[in-house]
Amino acid sequence: MEQVRVALLGLGTVGTGVWKMIQSNQDVIARRTGMWVTVEAILVRDINKERQVEGTQSLLTTSFDEVLAREVDVVIEVMGGVEPTRDYLRRAMENGCHVVSANKELLARHGEELRSWAKRFGVKLAYEASVGGGIPIIGTVSHFLKANRICKVSGILNGTTNFILTKMKDEGRTYEDILIEAQQKGYAEADPTADVEGIDAAHKLSILSRLAFDVHVPVDQIQRVGITQVSPIELDLADQLGFAVKLLASAEQYGENGPVSCSVSPTLLPLSHPLSNVNDVYNAVHVEGDFVQDLTLIGQGAGEKPTASAVVEDLCNLWRLTGQTAGKAAPRALLLESADGDGSRFHLLSFPSAQASAGQVVGHLERADLSVQAWKAAQEGETTWLALIANGWERGQADRLLRERSLAVTWHANRPVVGGGVPWGSKAVPLAKAAGDQ
Ligand code: NAP
Ligand code: HSE
Repeated sequence: MEQVRVALLGLGTVGTGVWKMIQSNQDVIARRTGMWVTVEAILVRDINKERQVEGTQSLLTTSFDEVLAREVDVVIEVMGGVEPTRDYLRRAMENGCHVVSANKELLARHGEELRSWAKRFGVKLAYEASVGGGIPIIGTVSHFLKANRICKVSGILNGTTNFILTKMKDEGRTYEDILIEAQQKGYAEADPTADVEGIDAAHKLSILSRLAFDVHVPVDQIQRVGITQVSPIELDLADQLGFAVKLLASAEQYGENGPVSCSVSPTLLPLSHPLSNVNDVYNAVHVEGDFVQDLTLIGQGAGEKPTASAVVEDLCNLWRLTGQTAGKAAPRALLLESADGDGSRFHLLSFPSAQASAGQVVGHLERADLSVQAWKAAQEGETTWLALIANGWERGQADRLLRERSLAVTWHANRPVVGGGVPWGSKAVPLAKAAGDQ
């Protein structure tokens, strides 16, 4: 039996899960991998904090030097943040330690650097838990889709926001109340702004784009809209129109070495669309490639156990699987516009009920040749809320038209809509034939 000595950096939600899994599944790991894993040190910020797990107290330290002094084989980084984490991981690799990390922010922003250090110091770097919680998407793309030309990766990549959107719709609770529950369950980031503003999903999309297209997509260049402006009334009206609102992340490449379009945005999916039923903390990742055609993985995207599963699986596979693809440095160009949606947009507006009925407002728009495909309205006190699915018109145009009729309209949302009749995955095209290819 091979002895594998491990250090944990962090004993929060994920670290606790990793500790528990190593303790409770040690026999399974030993039987299947021939490794006997022991935790030799655990780095934390506050050594006096009350911990939920037995047996860790003697291993806790606040000194990274002390962690290195324990001569471990693998450093498991589940503490988060960019600094001092980045520095710790460099020093760990310099000391010959393999690294497993769940840190999507670090991987998205400094992945190239981490990979170059791993190569220079002859160690492995694995980060399955950084995308999709328990879903083995990094391994699937890196190791089992190596020979495919991938043209699109998309999906629901953040558990906290999917949990919030689901509970807001099903239970009518407030956004703030559900966010607190998501934090208590350990789903949210230390600063939940990263979740609700779509930053976390953008980090994950950048990591996936690197693996799928061999390009570095800077996180700050990803077109991004969060869920903070999504209200229960929007979810309800979208539902009445036959759609679910999901925070969809999408990356698509046009032609081999062509531009990559990346976006994170609340998007309307027809209720018949498979992802419209991916609820609560679940994530789904969809990949389209020239030979695999399309494949979707669904699983719990955040939380102690699913994330620990991804981390410990990485640990078990460190010596088995070959490294990531080498890849190119940058895409030829980044498109700012999202490729998702079929041209239709969802608009949400409100106006004082005394000024007009919803039918009259829709009539004004249609008489000006602005086509409205479907609409629903709701009354809230003295305010009328109107939700429209429309194609091919600018909001400014409609806004001017309604103001000319002295309607005091407030616009709340303008979102992409994914087409109803298109089967999921049917758009997969060989990259050689995709638009933009030379
Ligand atoms: P967490 O609950 O806040 O735990 C962070 C842990 O790291 C704590 O034990 C903390 O110590 C320790 N720590 C933080 N900064 C430190 C520092 N400078 N020096 C020493 N120790 C430090 O966070 P988490 O939810 O487990 O997430 C950890 C990482 O996994 C993050 O990168 C996160 O994005 C990623 N991730 C999380 C999830 C999830 O569902 N939560 C899923 C996938 C990936 P104390 O305990 O003393 O405060
Ligand atoms: N905060 C993240 C989420 C954790 O909610 O998806 C998993 O990466």
